[in-house]
Amino acid sequence: MPARLSVDFVKHPDETKLTMPAVVLLDTPELEANTIPSMLDKALGEAIARAIDEAKFKAKTGDSLIVRGAKGTVIVIGTGEDKSDKAEDAQKLTNIGGAIFKALDSTSLTSATLYAGNMSADEAANLAYGAVLASYHFPKYFTKKEDDDKAKDGDKNKPKHSLSIACGNEEVVKTATAKFAEYTHRIEGVFLARDLVSEPANVLYPAEYADRCEKILSPHGIKVDVLDEKQMASKGMRLLLSVGQGSRRESRLVVMKWDGDADKNAQPIALIGKGVCFDSGGISLKPAGGMEDMKWDMGGSAAVVGAMRAIAGLGVRRNVVGLIGLVENMPDGQASRPGDVVESMAGQTVEIINTDAEGRLVLADVLTYARQHFTPKALVDLATLTGAIIVSLGHSHAGLFANDEKLAGKLLDAGKATGEGVWRMPLGEAYDKLLKSQIADMKNIGGRWAGAITAACFLQRFAEGEIAGDTQANAKTKTNIADKTSDKTPQKTAWAHIDIAGMAWADKASATTPRGGTGFGVRLLTRFVEEYDAD
Ligand code: BES
Ligand code: MN
Ligand code: ZN
Repeated sequence: MPARLSVDFVKHPDETKLTMPAVVLLDTPELEANTIPSMLDKALGEAIARAIDEAKFKAKTGDSLIVRGAKGTVIVIGTGEDKSDKAEDAQKLTNIGGAIFKALDSTSLTSATLYAGNMSADEAANLAYGAVLASYHFPKYFTKKEDDDKAKDGDKNKPKHSLSIACGNEEVVKTATAKFAEYTHRIEGVFLARDLVSEPANVLYPAEYADRCEKILSPHGIKVDVLDEKQMASKGMRLLLSVGQGSRRESRLVVMKWDGDADKNAQPIALIGKGVCFDSGGISLKPAGGMEDMKWDMGGSAAVVGAMRAIAGLGVRRNVVGLIGLVENMPDGQASRPGDVVESMAGQTVEIINTDAEGRLVLADVLTYARQHFTPKALVDLATLTGAIIVSLGHSHAGLFANDEKLAGKLLDAGKATGEGVWRMPLGEAYDKLLKSQIADMKNIGGRWAGAITAACFLQRFAEGEIAGDTQANAKTKTNIADKTSDKTPQKTAWAHIDIAGMAWADKASATTPRGGTGFGVRLLTRFVEEYDAD
């Protein structure tokens, strides 16, 4: 695991003093109003009080202060006021955990002990979760050892720091340790997604990416199938293939199955990801400035792979299938041209006005494939789909589009619980009609405005529309529906699309995410799948 921090839980040995070097949490800057003063000797207490004063330390959530006393260093972390709701409190603790890691990392200390004598097991585990999440790094391509942060002792993946969380009693230690072991699976999933997103496109091209999925996920009991171009061509996945046809790298479809349900035939939840390993724009070439960011255009697929890893690790008792469309969008003599008309797997035809609106072409065929092969009870796709969603929501929420209120509600809830926020956006006829083409069933872009919404409307046509010539799949869907309801009218599959273009990577570190690939979506999807059947 590419973590720079290891955490363990111990029983606090001596209620009368801190174990040095120490981490202490303060909820107010008035030292005397906190629990720890009795554990400080006079000199250290004075040093901390003076430092609080001089640094204007306000003890807001995540504020930090480092005090060097004669007997050792104390890292002081603010916790801020208690939040009124439970999800927010859990968030706050992971953020405090992140702040502890950052403060520790800013010193040359390799270990510290946090006094957590008054903390519950849940609180202690959440704090550890945030601290480890914040300690992610991707040192693979640094060759020099002298940079301490990057490669230490030649073993780049060995945690450099350790944090002991000193709990009130053995019972708390035991419960926190178990709870944190569970979080470790989520961390592994997030770190896997961050690793995939961080890899440059010359290393992580579709075939290599597919191999990694197989290698990494198979040992966890996930069945991984990879379709190559020939196999996709025989399925009629022309839209997906049209995006990759300008690249020297072959496209792939990776199908990852986790059968966690006691009923192996229970309809699965399908998680679908956009995996554009590099998006140059194709013939509608992007400007040079910032184009390097487009190695991150596979962030949706990475979230799906990371979530599959977490779901399997946690042993979630549900059937889940992950499908990622892996392509590279490049200009070339073979590439798609603006104006080309391509028939989708579902049978609908698309006029490609702009080859840079490629993600929706990939997802359209993957959505069709998922519906045809798995008749899922819900379809959720994640994609770095549009710059327009960043204009709308910035870097604080992903955009959520859904044709089903209940599904939207579950995703909003999962977002709140995990801190991976999503914000509902509209769909509708007024936007959908902007996709009208003069020559084909639709264009691949709308007009100038509402770009994130017209992109979602494009996907909706494939999430809901008829699949031409697919009598077998249609028959199967109908029987499934007949089994479950008395109503004979075919129901549409519940579908949601999450545009994560503003969230997949970050130029600035946040509480639990260093700059770079964020792994956004892993925690959200994992939580969503865990809670799916709960009402
Ligand atoms: N991968 C991009 C979207 C994107 C842009 C993600 C910026 C992250 C940051 C997508 O394939 C794209 O190029 N979208 C175009 C669509 C347009 C041509 C209708 C866009 O958003 O500009
Ligand atoms: Mn593009
Ligand atoms: Zn793209």
